Amino acid sequence: RFYSVIPAGGIGSRLWPLSRADAPKFLHDLTGSGSTLLRSTWDRLAPLSGDQRIMVVTGRAHRAAVEEQLPELADANVVLESEPKDSSAAVGLAAAILVRREPDVIVGSFAADHVIRDVRSFRRAIEQAVVVADAGYIATIGITPTEPAIGFGYIHCGESLDIPGAPKALRVESFVEKPDLATAEQYVEGGEHLWNGGMFVARADVLLDQMRETQPELVSGLEELAAVWDDPARRGPAVDRIWPGLTKIAIDYSVAEPAARAGRLAVVPGTFDWDDVGDFASIAKLHSGGRKNDLAILGENARVLADASSGIVVSQTDRIISLIGVRDIIVVDTPDALLVTTSANAQRVKSVVDALKLSG
Ligand code: GDD
Ligand code: MG
Repeated sequence: RFYSVIPAGGIGSRLWPLSRADAPKFLHDLTGSGSTLLRSTWDRLAPLSGDQRIMVVTGRAHRAAVEEQLPELADANVVLESEPKDSSAAVGLAAAILVRREPDVIVGSFAADHVIRDVRSFRRAIEQAVVVADAGYIATIGITPTEPAIGFGYIHCGESLDIPGAPKALRVESFVEKPDLATAEQYVEGGEHLWNGGMFVARADVLLDQMRETQPELVSGLEELAAVWDDPARRGPAVDRIWPGLTKIAIDYSVAEPAARAGRLAVVPGTFDWDDVGDFASIAKLHSGGRKNDLAILGENARVLADASSGIVVSQTDRIISLIGVRDIIVVDTPDALLVTTSANAQRVKSVVDALKLSG
């Protein structure tokens, strides 16, 4: 009954100029494993749901790249958006399509751009989440926080749900998406909160009913689309008519926060390593394995000369890059743009993208 959904849409603006609108984060190999993040996500999920039961929701512009990465992806499981409408629309449409094909389907939505290496422990957590979903809850996966990050959702854990087959599942007392720094600090110090791992597992009908409570128009638009989705002749006109008007909202606001208030949100704490590789500092950390004074070098043809330097160099050109006596540096060299900053400023890279958008 389980179906995996991979929403692959974000640009990853804190990874500019590597991650671009035409080559978003999930199409890059950020770990040096030889696989893109999207491919690794698929490989983690295929043993859970079977490769004929994974749906990918992405932008029209990424179709060719996604299909090249995922030759096993069935045509009926490619959902293309005409423009990004955020995760509620992406995951909600997948759920609405799947529930018509299979009324009691349980869907799991998994971000395309995370690094998880302990796949066995990941799968054990998801197996419990599926049991929790079968009991009618919307299940999340909780990650032990290591810092008061403001880019994540925070889960306040409650008592055990005592569900047979899911001994680790807890009730969620409250869910707060992207709190401010002071709040995040309180949560981390208090020790009762987990980060939201960006994964949701629920019966498709339960997920849609929850979304309907706060976003009735969005859900009826998605259901209208789903009703004609498997008919190619009717799909195109319906997308043109409905998609542009859909509300752009993250699923954390439309589903997770209200589900927690209604007592319908559960969490399975994950014991696997998890990294959302949101900026170059976290990529550098991933490569150095926490060792200080390491220099990570990414790029097949990178030519780097370094002396007493640490941080990360990403090279997509054949230019020689030389570093002398610079610590925690970030250098990203692409044919048309060069970024130089430091680890401490890695989060601020997004502002470049915002400025470029403003200047057209
Ligand atoms: N197809 C599609 N279309 N996918 C989208 C779109 C869209 O318009 N917008 C976002 N996504 C996908 C992203 O590609 C990613 O796989 C997932 O939805 C989550 O979106 P992000 O934009 O990466 O969300 P976030 O990182 O700010 O926050 C989420 O993830 C955190 C963990 O990394 C939230 O769920 C947080 O609560 C969570 O802590
Ligand atoms: Mg993200």
